[in-house]
Amino acid sequence: MDYKSVLISEIEKSAKYNLNTYPFNYLGSLNDLYIYNFNEPALDDVLIRSQKAYESNRQLSSFERSEILLEAARLLRIHKKEMSTIISYEAKKPIKFAEQEVERSIQTLKLSGIESSKLEGEYLNLDVAPNGAGREAFTKIESLGVVYAMTPFNFPLNLAIHKIGPAIAVGNSVIVKPSEKTPFSTYFLKYLLEESGLPKDLVQVVTGDGENITDTLLRYNEVKKVSFTGSVRVGKLIKNKVGLRKLTLELGSTSPVFVSKNNTIKDLDDIAEQIVIGAFSYNGQVCISTQKVYIDDEIYETLLEKIVTKTKSLKYGDLFNHETDYSDLIDQQAKNRILQWITETKNDGAVVITGGNSFNGAIEPTVITNTNDNMKICSEEIFGPLVVVENIKSKSIIELLNNSQYGLNVGVFTSDLTEALKLSNELDYGQVLINDVPTLRFDHMPYNGRRNSGYGTEGIKYAIKEMSQMKMVSLKYE
Ligand code: SIN
Repeated sequence: MDYKSVLISEIEKSAKYNLNTYPFNYLGSLNDLYIYNFNEPALDDVLIRSQKAYESNRQLSSFERSEILLEAARLLRIHKKEMSTIISYEAKKPIKFAEQEVERSIQTLKLSGIESSKLEGEYLNLDVAPNGAGREAFTKIESLGVVYAMTPFNFPLNLAIHKIGPAIAVGNSVIVKPSEKTPFSTYFLKYLLEESGLPKDLVQVVTGDGENITDTLLRYNEVKKVSFTGSVRVGKLIKNKVGLRKLTLELGSTSPVFVSKNNTIKDLDDIAEQIVIGAFSYNGQVCISTQKVYIDDEIYETLLEKIVTKTKSLKYGDLFNHETDYSDLIDQQAKNRILQWITETKNDGAVVITGGNSFNGAIEPTVITNTNDNMKICSEEIFGPLVVVENIKSKSIIELLNNSQYGLNVGVFTSDLTEALKLSNELDYGQVLINDVPTLRFDHMPYNGRRNSGYGTEGIKYAIKEMSQMKMVSLKYE
């Protein structure tokens, strides 16, 4: 299949209006593609079509919706090569990580199909209330209407499916605005969904100025739910605009991990390997990238050395070489910001143990120590190839881990059950991962952040709850 012709036809179908186009000049091989800047009349039309499509999706049975999503998973497997290539090009993601993303996306579509056939309510026994006798009641799950989804560049396919999959599963329609850096995998996904039988206009892709798109779409009451993955700054702006609509915000973190001296399950080589994968996969451009590692004094030197050795062995290279561990960062702006944070941190007394240098569009995988919590690389999400490694000495690990504006994933390595349970009770995070790095995510897990990490829960089953509403029906028969 020629994926470029599919993309061009999808992009043209999406815009029936006389819109300004702008060329997509990120990477060589997608250079001759372009995207549209959706203006207000175009967005009005998208909204009207989305509302009409919603009315038709409501008529589909759960069985039919489930079949479409499962068929899309099957088609995605068939077109894994094309989809991985698109992701690699647009997100500058080394091919082995792009392939992993497509594998996860197949699973996420399947989960959506499966959950679509499990939309169950419950029976309510009303005669437990003093005057409730003579009535029967039940609840059911109903759709909401139009869902407006905004997705980031780093997992352009899987994070789009995390919003589109549950929305379709429960009977909504979706308008999706991918990152302006990575629109093409979303267009290809829409094509695959429609090839799988998804009614026209149920998923529509809009591109262009995010703020203008959001402001225009939110003028319509038909938009019942907003779901956004991205930065805290934009998340806060969106929260101020949605009014009483349902909202999910997934805003990232400074994902920490604690390695206790109480470790008999995993050896330190294994732990170092996981930390390096967790910190540097896809250049650390992941919301749950391992950013801060706290280690018990007794094992600090040994583990640090292993982390540094493994970090130094990571290979820079061509996106399409399966040996490549890291490539260029998403853009020059991101690179400049990260380099500036490293410089500031060094000026404030931190020590770069390895990495820190820049070449081509990349920054070497970097390990830093001697930091403090006020430094940006500890308090803000770095979204780059950098990990802070510290000896906890006599400090309280709970304070170190909880002292953060973020609260998405946290990891703990320990084989001491009491320590594991105590920490899992006291850590103020949405997900506590024992004997894993915080970078672990399976797509059916709940994924919810506390504090500045966000609002609402993703993970297909949980996202369906947030994209639906419950109705209770009671019947008086006496
Ligand atoms: C994210 O970066 O927002 C999601 C990470 C993941 O799904 O693994």
